Amino acid sequence: MAEETCALCHGTGWTIVEKDGLSGAQRCNCALEERSAALLRRARIPSNYRQDHFDNFSDRGSADLRTIQGMLLRYCQDFPAGEPPGLLLIGEPGSGKTHLAVAVLHRLLEQGHECVFVDYQNLLERIRAGYDPLSGESPRAAYEEALEAEVLLLDDLGAHRVTDWVEDTVTSIITYRCNERKPVIATTNLPDAEMGGTLIERLPDGAPARYDIKTSLVEKIGMRARSRLFEMCRIIRMPRVGDYRVAARR
Ligand SMILES: Nc1ncnc2c1ncn2[C@@H]1O[C@H](COP(=O)(O)OP(=O)(O)OP(=O)(O)O)[C@@H](O)[C@H]1O
Ligand SMILES: [Mg+2]
Ligand SMILES: [Zn+2]
Repeated sequence: MAEETCALCHGTGWTIVEKDGLSGAQRCNCALEERSAALLRRARIPSNYRQDHFDNFSDRGSADLRTIQGMLLRYCQDFPAGEPPGLLLIGEPGSGKTHLAVAVLHRLLEQGHECVFVDYQNLLERIRAGYDPLSGESPRAAYEEALEAEVLLLDDLGAHRVTDWVEDTVTSIITYRCNERKPVIATTNLPDAEMGGTLIERLPDGAPARYDIKTSLVEKIGMRARSRLFEMCRIIRMPRVGDYRVAARR
C-alpha cells in the first residue's frame, strides 16, 4: 500500500508544491499509479491478453501494420478528444486485432480512463443470465456495465449465433453508446463488403469448384448496429499479414 511506502506524500496522496511564491496541493504520483492499478484490475483483461502492449507488437515488416500502430498511438495521445471516438479493427484471425486493441486499452488505463474488456459471446451470455433469477450476478449488471463503461472493448464482435434477441441487444448497446458519445473499441474477423472484405473465399485445399461463403458483419449484428458502429468508429482494416499464431510456430 502506498500509505506505508510513499516518502513523498507520506501516504496522503498529495504533495505540496511551490509555484511563483504560492504553495498548492498536487496529486502525488503514487496516487495516480494506484488509480491506474485499480483501473487495470477492474478492466478484466483476460490473462492471455494481459501482456499485449505496443512495445511487444511487431510490424512484421509490413508498412501497413506500422501505419496502423502509429495511428493508434496518436489515438491514445488525443484521447478523449479524437473524432470519431471509437475504433473498429477488421481482419483475419491472428492478424493482431485483439493485441492492438488491448495495447490501446493499456495506454488509456495508464492515462486514468475507466476501460472494460468484454468478450462479445461472453457478454451476451452474461446479459442473458442476468434475466435468470438463479444466476449469482445482479440482474442486468453485465448489460449496464456494457452501456456505462467509459471505454468498452468489445472483442470478437459477431462471434455468436444470430437471433432477434442478439441483434436487438447489440443494437441497443451500440445505439446507447453512440448517442452518449461513449467510445467502443471493437474487433471482428467478419468481412464487410463495403470495406473491401471478401464474402466468398476459395477453400485452402485449392479445389477450384468449392467456395466458402463467409457470413458478413451485417448478417451477424444487423444493419442498424453496423451503421452506428461505422459512424462512431475509425475503421481499421488489418493488412493480410497471415495468422501470427501459425507464423510463430514455424
Ligand atoms: N504483429 C504482432 N506482433 C506480436 N505478436 C502478435 C502480432 N500479431 C499477433 N500477435 C500475437 O498472436 C496472437 C494472436 O493475435 P490476436 O489475438 O491479436 O489476433 P486476432 O486478430 O485478434 O485474431 P482472432 O480473429 O482469432 O481473434 C496473440 O498472442 C498476439 O499477441
Ligand atoms: Mg481476437
Ligand atoms: Zn505519494
